[in-house]
Amino acid sequence: MHLIGIRELERPQVEGLITLARNLKKKTQERAPLPSFTGYTLGMLFLEDSTRTRVSFEQAARKLNLGCTSFGMQGSSLSKGESLKDTVLTLKHEGIDGLVMRHRSSGASYLAARFFDGPVINAGDGMHEHPTQALADAVTIIEHRDSIQDLKVAIVGDSLHSRVARSNVWLLSKLGANVTLVGPSSLIPKFRAKMPVSVTQDLYAGLHEADVVMALRLQKERMESGLISSTSEYASLYQINARVLRAAKPECLVMHPGPINRGIEIDDPTADGKQSVINQQVENGIYVRMAALAYLFEKHNSNGTETKGNEAQ
Ligand code: NCD
Repeated sequence: MHLIGIRELERPQVEGLITLARNLKKKTQERAPLPSFTGYTLGMLFLEDSTRTRVSFEQAARKLNLGCTSFGMQGSSLSKGESLKDTVLTLKHEGIDGLVMRHRSSGASYLAARFFDGPVINAGDGMHEHPTQALADAVTIIEHRDSIQDLKVAIVGDSLHSRVARSNVWLLSKLGANVTLVGPSSLIPKFRAKMPVSVTQDLYAGLHEADVVMALRLQKERMESGLISSTSEYASLYQINARVLRAAKPECLVMHPGPINRGIEIDDPTADGKQSVINQQVENGIYVRMAALAYLFEKHNSNGTETKGNEAQ
């Protein structure tokens, strides 16, 4: 089994991962024994830049006694023209037991999963999905609101290029939230016939009575030119700040998956303000990645593969 997208998960699977992440957080904080996978090695194939996702997967692996080996574009044979398929086959035959992969192409994790025996976790593939970020966001919301059912969530900004937005749309709507994408029409996904979302270009309408506001970075590295007239005009229309937050519920949570471009999609006082749960999203990233790794490695073992690890509950 793999974790490539939230879209293909059933609601109980999403809820199971959230519960497991919260249990692992509690156990970590109480210094209680954690599941242990001594003897297993995780390959971290990060072919796009990353700080929080890569470090939190490394932290999660360490806490579960999983060995970890990292590869980037530079320093691996991919820079010599090797295909992703051959890289994945090499890692498989070198005894790597699980793969965490970030790639600029949407769907690259599906390809890797075809050629790799162990679990593959998508750590962000192009404009497709970033499932563990959405799980971290869901855990953070639940810590403040108990349930996601019926919450009004506004995702503001460049949802067209955002895998975080897509994973959150699937996850939050599976758990009963009403999700609205807010932004200029040039930055809203065009083909969303099956996406359970509303859309508005009007920030105040999108934020009206919102329980959660999630700001997104303008993903210029994936953007053709001409999608916005200027960064400052974008900021004047869509920046999350104290003034626009008056349209939302007074206790509305302010979120951002990072990296933040302060002064563009969100201003400084709001990013650091008392409604902001951005640092909590980062922290919960470790526990959801522990949950994903523990769940997938357990599952892989119970499917008949030789068991190297043990469960120290
Ligand atoms: C995002 C990503 O890489 O998809 N960040 C993250 O992993 N938390 C969002 C972004 O790059 O803007």
